[in-house]
Amino acid sequence: MKLKEMSRAQLEAFRDEALREYEDFKSKGLSLDMSRGKPSKAQLDISMPMLDVLNSTSDMKDKNGVDVRNYGGLTGIDDCKELFADLLGVKPSMIIVGGNSSLNLMYDSVARAYNFGVYGGSKPWCKNEKVKFLCPVPGYDRHFGVTETFGIEMINVPMTPQGPDMDTVERLVSSDPLIKGIWCVPMYSNPDGYTYSDDTVRRFAALKPAADDFRIFWDNAYCVHHLKDDHDHLLNIFDEAAKNGNEDMIYEFASTSKITFPGAGVAVICASENNVAHITKQLSMQSISYDKVNMLRHVRYFGNADGLKAYMHKHREVLEPKFDLVVNMLEEKLGALDILRWNAPRGGYFVSVYTEKGCAKEVVRLCKEGGVVLTGAGASYPYKKDPDDSNIRLSPSFPPLDELKQAMELFCISVKLATVTELLG
Ligand SMILES: Cc1ncc(COP(=O)(O)O)c(C=O)c1O
Repeated sequence: MKLKEMSRAQLEAFRDEALREYEDFKSKGLSLDMSRGKPSKAQLDISMPMLDVLNSTSDMKDKNGVDVRNYGGLTGIDDCKELFADLLGVKPSMIIVGGNSSLNLMYDSVARAYNFGVYGGSKPWCKNEKVKFLCPVPGYDRHFGVTETFGIEMINVPMTPQGPDMDTVERLVSSDPLIKGIWCVPMYSNPDGYTYSDDTVRRFAALKPAADDFRIFWDNAYCVHHLKDDHDHLLNIFDEAAKNGNEDMIYEFASTSKITFPGAGVAVICASENNVAHITKQLSMQSISYDKVNMLRHVRYFGNADGLKAYMHKHREVLEPKFDLVVNMLEEKLGALDILRWNAPRGGYFVSVYTEKGCAKEVVRLCKEGGVVLTGAGASYPYKKDPDDSNIRLSPSFPPLDELKQAMELFCISVKLATVTELLG
């Protein structure tokens, strides 16, 4: 029976039962962490053979004969550029291979634009009275952390299953020259798991910004992270942008953080040749080279983009049962009550759920008290303010399956308890 159709007496009985279940659970003294989308130990173990690819007798030269152990090659070794170019469907000359973190490349890109300006822009962003960013919500908390750090005003744009609401994006971007950027996770978005539709990608590629220094931050973190055979497909934004002469408007990012090791992968920025030349000049004041040994290690391990894609099946074997468990438990425990909405993603790292308005913080608090730490309610919104106090990001990847099951039991009980308490007033 739907919770909202219950009489007051039924609701009270429901609350008493939920409370009993909750107290039972609490007495187990659990201590589980589902707060971040980290790969599990089993996933990290998959990539251990990569560490044996290079040893003290290895040939340490890249395909051009450059010794990767030495200084130089600021934008990365060609072998690695080719790997990522193939993966992202662009030319190798559009790739800069960085260190281990794409978030670091995003932060640096905002910092460079803010302090020095972007290719084709008339002045640094900081020379404006104010700088604004569009933030599709819910979104990735660390994106919002970067823009908040620079004092950039963040404007919420609603997400839909097709991507950000493009009517709003087009209206704002074309009318306000202080809007300098937008954060996008176009494939298996964090946290909803939505992939932008072809129409959305085409509309992004055809934007006509009022600012001459606007950039789309296209964070393609989950481009190969499929969980199902009938996985999503994302249109190549650079192909579409070329049709509009808009290639300079896009910075794309990716990394192997959730392919090999989050602490020791390789990350890239992918951009037009104009942007790459502009960024390289600025980067040359910052560094002489990134970790080319690690680039070579990754290239030798995967061989090519097809090798890397095939390798992702090993991750899927670990992750798919966890995602299935989460979605099945939500359906089984809460489906009929009609008190929670969620998307069953076909890839990525998260299941995003929506409680009744005003219940998310309480659910997260109940879970914490019961021994399961979730991502803070509101974290997926700029300034940590979810206007509806409704969205919660579940991260099934890290705990082993049996712990995940327990965490989800507690989560479902907490949703029941928080919702019925709210309904009873
Ligand atoms: C959308 C998104 N972008 C970037 C990152 C972090 O990437 P990296 O490890 O390459 O810094 C994450 C990690 O969760 C993410 O969800």
